[in-house]
Amino acid sequence: MTARKLFVTTALPYANGNFHIGHIMEYIQADTWVRAQRMQGNAVNFVGADDAHGAPIMIAAEKAGKTPQQFVADIAAGRKQYLDGFHIAFDNWSNTDSAENHELSKQIYLDLKAAGFIESRTIEQFFDPEKNMFLPDRFIKGECPRCHAKDQYGDNCEVCSSVYAPTDLINPFSALSGATPVMKSSEHFFFKLSDPRAVEFLTEWTQNGKHVQPEVAAKIKEWFGVRTNPDGSTSEGLDDWDISRDAPYFGIEIPDAPGKYFYVWLDAPVGYLASLKELLKRRGEDYDAYMADPDLEQYHFIGKDIITFHTLFWPAMLKFSGRKTPTRICVHGFMTVNNGEKMSKSRGTGLDPLKYLSLKMNPEWLRYYLGAKLNGKNEDIDFNPEDFMLRVNSDLIGKYVNIASRAAGFISKRFDGRLGQVSEDGQALLGALREQQTAIVAAYEARDSARASREIMLLCDKVNSYVDANKPWELAKKEGMDARLHDVCTTCIEAFRILTIYLSPILPGVAAEVARFLIVPPERFADVVRPLGAGHQIGVYQHLMQRVDPKQLEALFEAPAGQAAAEPAKAEKKAAKKAEPAIDPTAPGGEPLAETIGIDDFAKVDLRIARILECRAVEGSTKLLQLTLDVGEKDENGQPRTRNVFSGISSMYQPEQLQGKLTVMVANLAPRKMKFGLSEGMVLAASHADEKTHPGIYVLEPFPGAQPGMRIH
Ligand code: 2FM
Ligand code: ZN
Repeated sequence: MTARKLFVTTALPYANGNFHIGHIMEYIQADTWVRAQRMQGNAVNFVGADDAHGAPIMIAAEKAGKTPQQFVADIAAGRKQYLDGFHIAFDNWSNTDSAENHELSKQIYLDLKAAGFIESRTIEQFFDPEKNMFLPDRFIKGECPRCHAKDQYGDNCEVCSSVYAPTDLINPFSALSGATPVMKSSEHFFFKLSDPRAVEFLTEWTQNGKHVQPEVAAKIKEWFGVRTNPDGSTSEGLDDWDISRDAPYFGIEIPDAPGKYFYVWLDAPVGYLASLKELLKRRGEDYDAYMADPDLEQYHFIGKDIITFHTLFWPAMLKFSGRKTPTRICVHGFMTVNNGEKMSKSRGTGLDPLKYLSLKMNPEWLRYYLGAKLNGKNEDIDFNPEDFMLRVNSDLIGKYVNIASRAAGFISKRFDGRLGQVSEDGQALLGALREQQTAIVAAYEARDSARASREIMLLCDKVNSYVDANKPWELAKKEGMDARLHDVCTTCIEAFRILTIYLSPILPGVAAEVARFLIVPPERFADVVRPLGAGHQIGVYQHLMQRVDPKQLEALFEAPAGQAAAEPAKAEKKAAKKAEPAIDPTAPGGEPLAETIGIDDFAKVDLRIARILECRAVEGSTKLLQLTLDVGEKDENGQPRTRNVFSGISSMYQPEQLQGKLTVMVANLAPRKMKFGLSEGMVLAASHADEKTHPGIYVLEPFPGAQPGMRIH
């Protein structure tokens, strides 16, 4: 089979903050995939860069008293410690203000213009008369036109989740100067996505099952349908995309348009190509020739928040400027910690990757834990400290590392460090391990490292059963059993080598140490069929991995001095639970099913969809949150009526996380007088009966489409 040629990227992080765990998760996912490709002999160029441009960075630099270039360079200087720390090996790390990116972005724009895809129009926008600049949506604030919450952003309300235009805000003000913005007109450039050629191309490209996951294709399809605009009008197909911004702006100046700059999202993805170009130049290779190869495959790993840019704008920019379009956009979900806070790019708190490293926690624990959870789908994944400790300790140490530690000592002490012959039962075991190569490689290819690690752990179980059945520690004590001991331990070492090859995309550091211990060169997947053979000399085994220490996890989640603990104390968590159910570990959810009821009994409970209009902490209570719910009710004057409900869920949720969300409530529960006020109903939440082994309480959220007031049948 000829080697594949791959060009792989991860989303370019804005250069206005350090990496958080969401970035690291994406880089680990992509790095694992890249390593699995190289293990198949494929040729990969894996590049990243800082996304340097845009108004927020310009403004942050100004606040810091630096030029934007210096500001970006200072952020970039901090990247290496994270990347090296988690064994993430980009071939190049650039930034979008590079000469290559300026040149490529301008050329792509000119090619789009020549193809008839650029149009200029005069539009009206908010302008800050004090700062003398047009205001990006994020820098206009005001009162939400729908729920009247104060201090909301120009594009959407964080309280009621409605989306609107900045001009819809009540009493708008500039977040930069506080001044009232004025409307001012300006010429803007648009990429004509409404052009029938673009609509036709993107419909096919996004829906032909080749370039995005099915769940992502379904989401994109909605954007092509009929939509309601903030002003109440409807539109169909795709809107043109505003790709220019007026000076002052930190970005790339548009050719023949002084004072006009590319909007940051125009030149950001071009940064993928620019970083690759920089890499090839450094190596003395020709970028144009590399890109012209029809067999070159182009993969972009991204988070679910930037699907539009990568599945509509970016492929269209490439296609209509006459360039190669991406092979695949690989979308992942967000990461949460303890089912709690969302680890999106804008709110990266909870698990600080640098703190993780500074506590001397093994980076490969995290690589394994994330690898064992990521399945190639656009799904959120959760970091749960107990689960993390269990998986690492039981899988990596208990199942995998254990194999080497059980056999290596005998090989060194009794056989001079040399491997022996493997007899029939050992060969059968090794054959079973080798047979799984295709399935494991296929799982990696599909970015389903969860399936790969499951398969590998099943193989570890097989090897451990072989060890338990043959008991080398007993063979070692018996007279005349030397040959069998040598055979069994050689089988174990060979099995360990195969398992290490399978795990090496996830655990590159461990794999390198194992290669030193086994005295073998770096190996590929295909090498699983080539045994080390009798007489091969191995090195002295040194312990490959420590167990996770619960104290490290406690320290990792300890709030910095002076701040409230992010993780509530155990006692508080316990208090957050309702009545203590009878625990039965064998029953689903840890408790036996309740007595059978008839439909009439169920009908007595009136469950309704409710919108959480407001959510507040309750002073004096460590377990309650106070919710204001809209259940679609009206009072006798026809005015909207809300319910006040107290719920014992504060150990799991920050109030702002729940605001605007839909949930399910028992709407006909008799009101209950509580210390803090009257509770007019109950919000539904799930929890395991045994909160020691399964901590957490989870509020229910209905599928999209449900509306406040709808009854649950
Ligand atoms: O969302 C973000 O963080 C952007 N900086 C991602 C850019 S990805 C690519 F297009 F550069
Ligand atoms: Zn609102």
